[in-house]
Parts: sequence; C-alpha cells; structure tokens
Amino acid sequence: LAEFVEFSPRSFPYFLQPKLVGIVVSVDSSGKPNGMTVAWFMPVSRDPPLMVVAVSPRRYTYSLIKQTRDFTLNILDSSLIGEVEFFGSVSGRDVDKFSKSRLTLSKSKFVKSPYISEAVTILECSLYADYPAGDHQLIIGKVERLLVKKDAASDNIYNLKKIKLLLYLGEGKYTVTSEEVYEYP
Ligand SMILES: Cc1cc2nc3c(=O)[nH]c(=O)nc-3n(C[C@H](O)[C@H](O)[C@H](O)COP(=O)(O)O)c2cc1C
Repeated sequence: LAEFVEFSPRSFPYFLQPKLVGIVVSVDSSGKPNGMTVAWFMPVSRDPPLMVVAVSPRRYTYSLIKQTRDFTLNILDSSLIGEVEFFGSVSGRDVDKFSKSRLTLSKSKFVKSPYISEAVTILECSLYADYPAGDHQLIIGKVERLLVKKDAASDNIYNLKKIKLLLYLGEGKYTVTSEEVYEYP
C-alpha cells in the first residue's frame, strides 16, 4: 500500500492544481480597464450558462465588478506567462496595468468590460450573483458570449496540437497542456 504524507488542510489548493489560467478584465465607472490573473474558476451551469470565479474582496477587480456588474474572462496560452505574472502581482489601484503591457483590448459586444485580443478563449460575462465564501467572494458570471480563436478548437473542444494552454501549478510555477489525448470507446 502506498504511504501518504499528511499536509495542513490550508495546503489543499495546491493539490487541486494545475488549473487553467486567465485574466479577468473589468472597468471602472469611466470605462478604464483593469486586468487580474485568476486560476480559481470553473463552470457551474450550462442552462443558463454560468461560471464561478473566486475573487478576494481585497482585489481592486472585486470593487470594479461590483460597480460595473460585468467582466470578461480571457484564457491565455503559454506565450503570455510574463503577462500572467504581471497582472497577478500588482494591483490596478496602484498601476495602470494595460498601459504597461503589450496586451491589447477589443470592445465586447454584450458587456462594458473589453476583452484581450491575444486570448485563446473569451467569455463575456454579466454579474449573476455574488456570495461570500471564507476569504474569497464567489462571483457568478452569466456567459453572454463565447469567442474561441480560430484553429484553437475542433469539434467543440480544444485542439491541443494547435495550442499550449497555460496551467498554474502554485508557488509561482506553471506548466502547459500536453498534446496527448486519450479517448475511450
Ligand atoms: C497564477 C495566479 C492565479 C491567481 N488566481 C487568483 C484567483 O483565482 N482569485 C483571486 O482573488 N486572486 C488570484 N490571484 C491574485 C491576483 O491576480 C492579484 O492579487 C492581483 O494583483 C489583483 O489585481 P487587482 O488588485 O488589480 O484586482 C492570482 C495570481 C496569480 C499569479
């Protein structure tokens, strides 16, 4: 029988990772955009299409989403690891992150928050609900629009031969998706 090492329950997030990485883009009342790196998000409903992202109420992004009531989730590939680190280490309260990065923004169709033109996948989301949960808030977004970069997907799923998605492992370490795909009959 395998032996186990017992960790503190506080370490559990590391063992639910690696996770896809994205940048949540939100805007202030004047329309000025801010981005923040996220890894704690997942789908929760297909009809209506709902996703959840755990956002600490300390993030500038949290106050922007509460104010403007929408955001975009932008999924990135491994070429953008530098941007992911930058958007996840400084606050929009102190720094205009987009003016200091090479990421470019495009106007969304259904929400005020713009999306990142270099992203692989974009979810335009309206704020559907917001629940407290420990030291984070559960931001539930209703997916109003879904854009996936041409060639990044075939048959409704990612084509991993064409893209390497960035995954967050923890403690400042990242990995990427592999090309290996298994299909069981
Ligand atoms: C890989 C990575 C993943 C992160 N995931 C989350 C997350 O899911 N939720 C969260 O509240 N903060 C997360 N953060 C931290 C925020 O991105 C960070 O605090 C950011 O500076 C907040 O920016 P803001 O104050 O402009 O909103 C993550 C950081 C990194 C580097």
